[in-house]
Amino acid sequence: MSSLKIVLLGFGTVGEGVYQTIQTHQNRLQSLLGKKVEIVGVLVNDINKKRKIDQHVVITDDMDDLLEIPDVDVVIEAIVGVEPGYSYVKKSLDKGFHVITANKELLANKGKELKKQAVQNHVRLEYEAAVAGGIPIISTLRHLLRVNRITKIEAILNGTSNYILTDITENQTPFKDALYDAQQKGYAEADPSNDIDGWDAFYKLMILSDLLFGTQPSWDSIVHRGIRNVRDVDILAAHSIGCKIKHVASLVSEDGDVKLAVEPVVLPSSHALYSVDGVDNAVMVTGDIVGQLQLQGPGAGALPTASAIIEDLVNIYQIKENVYEESAVSFTSLSESALEDWLVIGLADSIDSLTIQDKWEISKDGSTTTCWRVTASEADVQSVVQDQPGVAYYRMNSQFSEIKSLSTVG
Ligand SMILES: NC(=O)c1ccc[n+]([C@@H]2O[C@H](COP(=O)([O-])OP(=O)(O)OC[C@H]3O[C@@H](n4cnc5c(N)ncnc54)[C@H](OP(=O)(O)O)[C@@H]3O)[C@@H](O)[C@H]2O)c1
Repeated sequence: MSSLKIVLLGFGTVGEGVYQTIQTHQNRLQSLLGKKVEIVGVLVNDINKKRKIDQHVVITDDMDDLLEIPDVDVVIEAIVGVEPGYSYVKKSLDKGFHVITANKELLANKGKELKKQAVQNHVRLEYEAAVAGGIPIISTLRHLLRVNRITKIEAILNGTSNYILTDITENQTPFKDALYDAQQKGYAEADPSNDIDGWDAFYKLMILSDLLFGTQPSWDSIVHRGIRNVRDVDILAAHSIGCKIKHVASLVSEDGDVKLAVEPVVLPSSHALYSVDGVDNAVMVTGDIVGQLQLQGPGAGALPTASAIIEDLVNIYQIKENVYEESAVSFTSLSESALEDWLVIGLADSIDSLTIQDKWEISKDGSTTTCWRVTASEADVQSVVQDQPGVAYYRMNSQFSEIKSLSTVG
């Protein structure tokens, strides 16, 4: 039987997961592809580390060694950061290899250029694993919802942030302890800033924008906040009105006007993302024909990510490529002047210039904090709270308006 030859760039959590999955699912892959699937080379940083890799596989820290292997079909890239992945993917596409990547930072920065290069070279660039890990959101949008116009996506795309917020909400764990726990369990990196400053979710949202519209906004034009500054008292304030704070990436498209945001928001219990807890990711997609769909599952980890990569591998040979044309959309930031509901926490001074809907107090560790629900523009909220230390504010999801009065829950 002939074989499909694969080169693996990176042998960390993802790379090793892919290697093992190809071994455990060899029979299934052979029956789907009609060929043996063989890893012929592995690129790593440190060639002296001990790894469970067959002796016949080339292990190297020099990409050129792998590019010289004859008859390679597919390169799977699972390195961290834009470089060296960018240079290696470019070289691989130029050599006529299909590429599958899990690298969201690379795709958010260089995806558009690399997709063009893949088309020019008549090869495929696949990246299901880069957005929401094991959840097949890219395939769903690319292959299953092609006629629908996607009007809205709301998603929890960073498992680490979701884990930390859930731990604080359910167990009253202090933020730094919840972060430490996430690191101990392998959910967060030693340097967690990509997760808790919102970059990981931001990169994924940019990849979705590229996929749906063939383009993305300039990065400084969109709301982009992580959970680093979410305080225990903020979560308690949301809880006191039957809500949760969740880190949500959103995309709303209306008549060619697209608004994107990544930020912690206050979600009421009626919202589909409210009950998505722990490290899970979830994506809610609204299409103009189908209505609202929800996909939920593991957004990271060796096997869920390997699952997405292996499905991409089979899809390269079994599903025709759908190339999206660039759409004529304009990106606007969430309007600073539109009136929305905000949860304001810890404001001591008067906020009379904002329209106050509710005011209540919460107690924690013997101290009392005032909370407000106001209707105002973000610009007005900002101008009122900016000089007041200890004050935080969060956008309230529009479904919150379903809760008519807080007097019964405050
Ligand atoms: N972890 C997840 O659950 C997950 C989920 C979805 C997507 N991703 C994405 O998948 C990619 C890999 O993530 P990971 O968690 O597997 O990372 P990881 O565990 O840190 O592994 C990274 C691998 O890349 C190798 N590497 C790093 N720099 C290199 C260089 N300059 N040249 C050659 N090899 C190099 C490392 O080699 P050594 O082994 O020698 O150090 C290691 O094998 C990232 O882009 C990540 O964002 C990860």
